[in-house]
Amino acid sequence: MAGIPLIGDKFPEMKVQTTHGMMNLPEKFKGQWFILFSHPADFTPVCTTEFYAFQQRYAKFKELGAELVGLSVDQVFSHIKWVEWIEENLAEKIEFPIIADTGAVAEMLGLIHPGSGTHTVRAVFFVDPQSTIRAILYYPAELGRNMDEFLRMLKGFQIADEYKVAIPANWPENELFGDDVIVPPASNLRDAEARKGQEGCLDWWLCHKKIA
Ligand code: BEZ
Repeated sequence: MAGIPLIGDKFPEMKVQTTHGMMNLPEKFKGQWFILFSHPADFTPVCTTEFYAFQQRYAKFKELGAELVGLSVDQVFSHIKWVEWIEENLAEKIEFPIIADTGAVAEMLGLIHPGSGTHTVRAVFFVDPQSTIRAILYYPAELGRNMDEFLRMLKGFQIADEYKVAIPANWPENELFGDDVIVPPASNLRDAEARKGQEGCLDWWLCHKKIA
């Protein structure tokens, strides 16, 4: 693959060392979603709050059939000590694996940015059951992520795929359509004409509907 992977690309094949042992990605999670997220470094304040928040929602990610995978350029011993610290001090046992990267994975995934020095930026990759990258998000060091948004995105992707629809802004609390989803626009004149005045259509290209 030339350059860093983008949305729509297959997640690159790699063998990684994690706190749960060696893993082949994306093979390990083929047939299910996984969310790979990088953090700048272990034993840092914002990252600690993020790990705590991810773990607090881990059961919800699992209910949606998704696995979480952390990553930073730190040794596996550092990851082990950090998750021990989190369990001892914050009473939360980190159950998902964390990749111990030497820098090779970060380079392959484009996680070292000009302003991030030698640390990985906060990045999030959503990878679907066919190992296709569906979303890539980047955040700076000073801004902790919102894990509820990742749960919303995961639910949105799964509904979009199952019902062949699109998901409006702020769904399921969209300002115009509530928890309705967007029907793909008509792609021929006959369908466009039929949509005019149809219930749920503001115009032939702007139709919404409830899903079961
Ligand atoms: C943090 O997680 O608090 C952090 C990490 C790297 C740089 C700055 C802050």
